[in-house]
Amino acid sequence: MGSNDEPEEVPRRDFLGMAVGGSAAAFAVAGGYPFLRFVDPPAQQPSGPVNIGKLEEFPVGSARTVVVDERPVLVIRTGDGFRAFSALCTHLQCVVAYSAERNQIECPCHRGIYSMDGRNIGGPPPRPLQELSVTVNTGSVIVSAV
Ligand code: FES
Repeated sequence: MGSNDEPEEVPRRDFLGMAVGGSAAAFAVAGGYPFLRFVDPPAQQPSGPVNIGKLEEFPVGSARTVVVDERPVLVIRTGDGFRAFSALCTHLQCVVAYSAERNQIECPCHRGIYSMDGRNIGGPPPRPLQELSVTVNTGSVIVSAV
């Protein structure tokens, strides 16, 4: 018999059930995004040249992910100039990132690895990243399809 003032105790079995259920739901959401991107991939090419910012916003040795036509584009400025790739991994469409430490492009989802020219060199990605062209016009950085 308990009074109404005492907190109700949650049985250990119920608590574990809730914890396992919550973890399964979080895992389903995290894994669902790449699956949905695979089933319904975004458009593959930008519709036209897109101004992504001023040259001074891209210091040498840096990388930025910008959104072009509603999809992420990884823009890397090296000592030799710019490289730009679709930032969607060719495995299950997770967003890739530049690693300055390892001088390569990496996918966090399943450890996919791409070289600095976009070639798939490690992990599950089946194809190179789609490359985009980058030009600089009167101080503005412009991305367009190759
Ligand atoms: S989505 Fe699997 S390695 Fe990128």
